[in-house]
Amino acid sequence: MAAHLQDQTKLSNGVGMPWLGLGVWQAKDGEEVVNSVKWALQSGYRSIDTAAVYDNEEGVGQGIKESGVSREEIFLTSKVWNSDQGYESTLQAFETSLKKLDTDYLDLYLIHWAVKDKYKETWRALETLYKEGKVRAIGVCNFQTHHLDDLMADCEIKPMVNQVELHPKLSQKELREYCRENNIQIEAWSPLGQGKLLQLPLLNEMADKYGKTAAQVILRWDLQNGIVTIPKSVHQDRIVQNADVFDFSLTDEEMAAIEGLNEDDRIGPDPDHFDF
Ligand code: A2P
Repeated sequence: MAAHLQDQTKLSNGVGMPWLGLGVWQAKDGEEVVNSVKWALQSGYRSIDTAAVYDNEEGVGQGIKESGVSREEIFLTSKVWNSDQGYESTLQAFETSLKKLDTDYLDLYLIHWAVKDKYKETWRALETLYKEGKVRAIGVCNFQTHHLDDLMADCEIKPMVNQVELHPKLSQKELREYCRENNIQIEAWSPLGQGKLLQLPLLNEMADKYGKTAAQVILRWDLQNGIVTIPKSVHQDRIVQNADVFDFSLTDEEMAAIEGLNEDDRIGPDPDHFDF
C-alpha cells in the first residue's frame, strides 16, 4: 500500500510506476498544461499521463523542463492514437511524441483504444520500441478482458498496464480481478468521474469524517484497491489536494460501501462500440 506520493507499484517487468500521477486530458496546450505539470512536479508528483490526441505534449515537455525536476525522476506516459495504429505508423507516431515532449524515451507507451484489426500490429510496434530500449514499459488502454485474451494469445511481451475508465460508478471489478491474475497493473482514467461524482452524499459523509474532500476519498479508495490513479486538474490547489491522500485510511466497511455505488455506468465511450 502506497504510503507516500512518490511510492511506486512494481510492474511485471520490474519497472516502478508511481501509484498517483497527474492526468492532463483536456488541459490546454500552452500555459494551462505547462503550469499544471510544473505545479504537480513541484509539489511532489512524479508521474504525468498524456497522449498524442490530447494535443498538449509540447506543453507537457515544457512543464517538465520548467519544473526543475530531472527527467529521470519522472514517469512519463503517452499513447498512440487510433488513426496512427499499425506497425510503421505507430513507430512514427512514437517518434513524433518524443519530439513534442522533447525527450528521448518514454516510461510507458500505451495503445489508446483497441482498434479492431489493428491493435495486434500496433502491439508489435510497441514490442519493438520496448526491445530497442526506447520505452521502459508498454501497455494498453480501454481493453476489455476479451481484448486482453486475444492479444495475449498472440504476443511476445504481455502488456504491463491497462488504463481504463474506473471510478465508484464504474468499479470494473471483473476487469480488476482479471488484471490482477495476469499481473497487469490496472490504472484509472477519470477517477473522479470527470468531477461528476464529487457531490455524492456517501463520499461527502466520509470526507467530513476524515476532514478530507470527496475527491480525496475516491483517490484513497483507488490506492487501497491497488489501482494506479491519475486525477486531472489544472488548478494548483486541487493538484496539491489530490496528492494529499496518504494521511488517512478508509475502513473495510467504507471501502465496501464505495464499491456499492457501482452502477456499471460509463461517462466515456464503450470500448466495444466506439467509432473513432
Ligand atoms: P479542473 O481541472 O478545473 O480542476 P477526472 O480526473 O475524473 O477526469 O476529473 C477531472 C475533473 O474534476 C476536472 O473537471 C477537474 O477540474 C475536476 N477536479 C479535479 N480535482 C478536483 C478536486 N479536488 N475538487 C473538485 N474538482 C476537481
